[in-house]
Amino acid sequence: MSTPGGLPHVYSGKVRELYEVAFDQLLLVASDRVSVFDVVLPDEIPDKGRVLTALSQFWFDETAGIVPNHLISCDPTDFPPTAGPVGGRGMLVRSTQPIRLECVARGFLFGSAWSEYQDRGTVGGFPVRDGLQQAEQLPKPMFTTTTKAESGHDLPLTESEAIELVGAEVYERVRDLSIQIYEMGAARAHDNGLVLADTKFEFGELDDEIILIDEMMTPDSSRYWALDQYRVGTSPPSFDKQYVRDFMDSTGWDHVPPAPPMPPEVIERTSALYREAYELITGLSLDDWFGPDE
Ligand SMILES: Nc1ncnc2c1ncn2[C@@H]1O[C@H](COP(=O)(O)OP(=O)(O)OP(=O)(O)O)[C@@H](O)[C@H]1O
Ligand SMILES: [Mg+2]
Repeated sequence: MSTPGGLPHVYSGKVRELYEVAFDQLLLVASDRVSVFDVVLPDEIPDKGRVLTALSQFWFDETAGIVPNHLISCDPTDFPPTAGPVGGRGMLVRSTQPIRLECVARGFLFGSAWSEYQDRGTVGGFPVRDGLQQAEQLPKPMFTTTTKAESGHDLPLTESEAIELVGAEVYERVRDLSIQIYEMGAARAHDNGLVLADTKFEFGELDDEIILIDEMMTPDSSRYWALDQYRVGTSPPSFDKQYVRDFMDSTGWDHVPPAPPMPPEVIERTSALYREAYELITGLSLDDWFGPDE
């Protein structure tokens, strides 16, 4: 498998295809695929790959002063001619050695953190004060990690397990960076009428430096809520895949592949949510992003 122009393929993720441009450069192409419960669905979401790419570029640019990142360019004229047309879904990046941790920064009590808190009064193994409700803001942002599983589900790690995996120095660095970038992103999202409840980062090592890789603060890697619909004690409607998850669960699907198809209106609504997320977060129009003809 190669790009239309013939770049060699090196890896397929659930969402991205990676191609080798040079020994130190990759082309990441975000597909329109959607995965829920770690299963890739049979239907694609129009414009999703463009949104993930455009939004990642926005955040990489915004945070470049805090932490270096892998982005070289999303402009197709900077891609090698062998890339061929990738429809505004391509990102030329510096190739790194990925750090084998998914780094999650959380400002609000939701999802797996809410479940853990209800069961044990902790988040990522750290005690959190009593009496908080679902979706409530945490006293301060917290850092939790999971494995980056080669296949199957990513598993939560305690702090000592994470340190064992990557070493204390790397752990402390990615923890501090994650919290710092989350705080910046959450403040910026808030200015645009959104709550950034939590987000996942990936880091890579390059020339003894730790840099941000992969995607950044997209609806696939983050939970965004509309500020005007946010209520403590509820499950606020979100711009992430919750809408697709809810639909899939309504079909009675058991999360074992293959997943059932989505009706056209669910696909269209999901696509609209991704586009809306991009436009709300950045204040930009997706129409101005690179399209299939460029
Ligand atoms: N600059 C980079 N250098 C090396 N690897 C990178 C870089 N940026 C992203 N990656 C890797 O590319 C892959 C992106 O693919 P994708 O997001 O589809 O994967 P995923 O389904 O989330 O996870 P998995 O890789 O486990 O399938 C990830 O494995 C990520 O770690
Ligand atoms: Mg990914």
